[in-house]
Amino acid sequence: MCGIIGYTGHRPAVPLVMEGLKRLEYRGYDSSGVCFVQNRELHVIRAEGKLKLLEDKLAGREVSLSTTAMGHTRWATHGAPTEDNAHPHLSCYGKLAIVHNGIIENYQERKNDLLSKGVRFSSETDTEVLVNCIEDELKPGLSLLEAFAGALQKAHGAYALALLSPDEPNVVYAARQSAPLLLGIGAGENFVASDIPAFLPFTRDVVFLEDGEIVRITPTSWEVFSIDTLQPLEKKPQRIEWDLQAAQKGGFKHFMLKEIFEQPRAIADCMSGRVNLERLEVSIPELDSADAPARLRVIACGTSYNAGLWAMPLMEQWAGIPTTVEIASEFRYRNALLSPGELALVISQSGETADTLAALRIARQQGCPVLGLCNVIGSSIAREADMVVFTQAGPEVSVASTKALSSQMVVLLLMALYWGRKKKTLDRETLRQALRGLAALPTQLESLMPSLNDEARRMAARFSSCRGMFFLGRGQSYPLALEGALKVKELSYIHAEGYAAGEMKHGPIALVDPEFPSFFIAPHDDLFAKSKSNLEEVAARSGPVIALTNPPKPGMELRGGESWILPDAWGPLSGFLMLPAIQLFSYEAATLLGKDVDQPRNLAKSVTVE
Ligand code: M6R
Repeated sequence: MCGIIGYTGHRPAVPLVMEGLKRLEYRGYDSSGVCFVQNRELHVIRAEGKLKLLEDKLAGREVSLSTTAMGHTRWATHGAPTEDNAHPHLSCYGKLAIVHNGIIENYQERKNDLLSKGVRFSSETDTEVLVNCIEDELKPGLSLLEAFAGALQKAHGAYALALLSPDEPNVVYAARQSAPLLLGIGAGENFVASDIPAFLPFTRDVVFLEDGEIVRITPTSWEVFSIDTLQPLEKKPQRIEWDLQAAQKGGFKHFMLKEIFEQPRAIADCMSGRVNLERLEVSIPELDSADAPARLRVIACGTSYNAGLWAMPLMEQWAGIPTTVEIASEFRYRNALLSPGELALVISQSGETADTLAALRIARQQGCPVLGLCNVIGSSIAREADMVVFTQAGPEVSVASTKALSSQMVVLLLMALYWGRKKKTLDRETLRQALRGLAALPTQLESLMPSLNDEARRMAARFSSCRGMFFLGRGQSYPLALEGALKVKELSYIHAEGYAAGEMKHGPIALVDPEFPSFFIAPHDDLFAKSKSNLEEVAARSGPVIALTNPPKPGMELRGGESWILPDAWGPLSGFLMLPAIQLFSYEAATLLGKDVDQPRNLAKSVTVE
């Protein structure tokens, strides 16, 4: 959601900021803009739509002399995605320019106050209100830092901000509250940005800002202060070890395809250092200091929620931990009760999802310990949780989450084994099967990927013209069905329903007709016979069927529809083979329909507003 970059240094700032914005495109946006300081004046250029349109507007402008600038990609919240509403926003008297990710909740009240003072607005945004609040605070004798902090103390809501003034042409101010913002520390240049790739070609030294912090950078200095007290804060830069290559397409047509194909590696990386095959041991040192929880409350959104649902039976059967799984946006508003001994497990790839972060804070307020499962080091959830385990999937750029899910599934499975051993509820044979199977998965999946892709293309060609479809599964295949429907919806905009197969006849089956296919996830597990009956019920009503299943065995043949056969895998591990098939099907369907796979309409990579 909204991308920000601010730069001050020795290079031409506008081209650098444009490159940074391109590396933040994955966050999702519908308009963009830049502001640069030249001859002690602020220049703002903005455009609706993709960055190319902003580039076209910049072509022919003399921008090469400016060495301080900021840029923004906007995901509309207040007001339509028009040029007027695009950031940066100038204050009414032109003394300041601002870019913003987040929502100022009390903007209307502040706007009324400013209107009564004669301030005029040219957009519908809360951001333009905020920049005018800062200008309003700029009284004689006060520094810009003090005015900025003063305005922020009165603003309620979420923000990551960057601010420029022509009076301080080599300075960028920035601040953070409940939205991601980082400092990049270079030599003779400094950066602020929403995410590391924005400045990674120039520096690997990063300061992760906390909520309530305000920053002042010049080409040769950086300082962090508390917004409330303006006391200087001590911050330590951290070194980023991964490189930009890991966040680029590497020959694939889309980030999503690359990330689907990275799953064998992601699975291996998630196990690395955590599994000892010879000694049949699982080690998760992050959990060593606490007992296994008496109950587990998993809280997450979207794909991460599906990961929690998938893991629930493992937590219960292997570790004997009663587990409930909740959608974060529901949990946060229902005065949920957490019981003593309960552990809240918040799952989030980005670690920045606003609803999940709010749920984490509610759990902590109730005195419930919080364990975070995140992919992004330094993210808000990773920093605020009492304990954190990282998935080690590497950067996930495509809006559609893929390798994050398989890596979450690996870590959750390992946690269930770890707690099962700790509580002595797990037998050694199950542990052996799980660890051996898991260790073999990366190689098995690697060799399977090309044929999965071919079959996905064939299935997508046959079914992508449908008006809608079901994804159906039972047991651990039910969350995979939810995930299949989510992927098809978000990428190809085909209406898709994920359902528990056994629930079909309680209403949804009325939708079945020859134009409405059902995609069954039906591995040869304990529930196969039940899924088979559901499949036959659909086929009997002339509903087209695709069944993702295992090689036929006597008594287990499926009648009707298309079978998509995957190799047998032990117990829950079959999910790791079925998942890429579903992801590739949705990818191929969206590609065939000509959709923008990496940046689906209306979506953002990190959902930092509620
Ligand atoms: O970063 P998070 O895991 O917290 O994100 C949660 C959801 O926003 C995310 O999984 C979303 O559903 C994806 N677009 C799914 O592909």
